[in-house]
Amino acid sequence: MSFGGLEALKDITFEVRKGAIFSIIGPNGAGKTTLFNCINGIYRPGTGRIIFKDREIQGKKPYRIARRGIARTFQNIELFTYMNTMENLMLGRHTFMKTGLFRGALMWGKRSFAGREEVAHREKVEKIIDLLDLQSVRGKLVGGLPYGTQKQVELGRALALEPDLLLLDEPSAGMNSEEKQDMIFWVKDIQDDLGVTILLIEHDMKMVMDISDRVLAINFGKSIIEGTPSEVQQHPEVLKAYLGEDEDFGHAA
Ligand SMILES: Nc1ncnc2c1ncn2[C@@H]1O[C@H](COP(=O)(O)OP(=O)(O)OP(=O)(O)O)[C@@H](O)[C@H]1O
Ligand SMILES: [Mg+2]
Repeated sequence: MSFGGLEALKDITFEVRKGAIFSIIGPNGAGKTTLFNCINGIYRPGTGRIIFKDREIQGKKPYRIARRGIARTFQNIELFTYMNTMENLMLGRHTFMKTGLFRGALMWGKRSFAGREEVAHREKVEKIIDLLDLQSVRGKLVGGLPYGTQKQVELGRALALEPDLLLLDEPSAGMNSEEKQDMIFWVKDIQDDLGVTILLIEHDMKMVMDISDRVLAINFGKSIIEGTPSEVQQHPEVLKAYLGEDEDFGHAA
C-alpha cells in the first residue's frame, strides 16, 4: 500500500486462526492502521492478497467486506455523536438491510421502524447492550458520554454487525486502568462467548501480553516477527525498541 512515494505497507505476511486473538504491535507510523484500512476495504492495496474465509477480499468495497463478516472500531472514535447509544448500535446493523452506511442511515426510518425486522434487530442489540454493560447509557446521546464509554459503544456497534472477524484499532487508548481492565474482559468475552476472531492493534503491552494468542510486530511497513506473546517480547528488535532506544515503540500516540 503506497501513498505517493511512501510505501506504508511493503512486506507483511501473516495468518490468523479462526477464534484467535491476534495482536499487531509497532511504533507510531509503522502501518498498523493502514493494514486495517486495507483489510476492511477503505484502502485498495496496489499488490498483495488478503484472504478471508477462503476468498480474496483485497480491493473489495467496505460494505461488501462488512457483509462478509468483518467489523471494526477506529483509532479515533467514529460514532454518530448526536444519536443515542441504542441508535448507534442499531446503525451497526445496517449491513443486514442496506448497502452503505449513509444510505442505510437515511433509509432506516422508512424501511424498518415499522416492521418485524426491527424487533429482531432490537433483540440482537439488547444482547450487546447487556454484554457490554451499556444499560445505563442506552438512551443517552453518545457525544456527551465519557471517552471510555464511547469506546465501549463503538465496540458495541461493531458487534452489532455480528462479525466473524473484529478489527480493534487501539481499543484501550486513552482509558484509565480500570477501564482498560474492563476492555480486556470484554475482548476475552467476545472471543470466548461469541467465538469472534479478533485482530487487535494495541500499544498497551500488558494488554497485548495478557490476551493475545499470537502477536505480530511490524515497523516501516514490514514484519519483524510473528509468534507467541513471549517470543515476540524477547525478539532483539522488539526488546531494543521497548528498552527506550525507540521511545515511540509501545507508546500510545
Ligand atoms: N491516507 C494517507 N495518506 C498519506 N499517508 C498516509 C495515509 N494513511 C497513512 N499514511 C502514512 O502511512 C504510514 C503508516 O500510517 P499508519 O496510520 O498506518 O500508522 P500506525 O502504525 O497506525 O501508527 P499509530 O500507532 O500512530 O496509529 C505513516 O507514515 C502515515 O503517515
Ligand atoms: Mg494507527
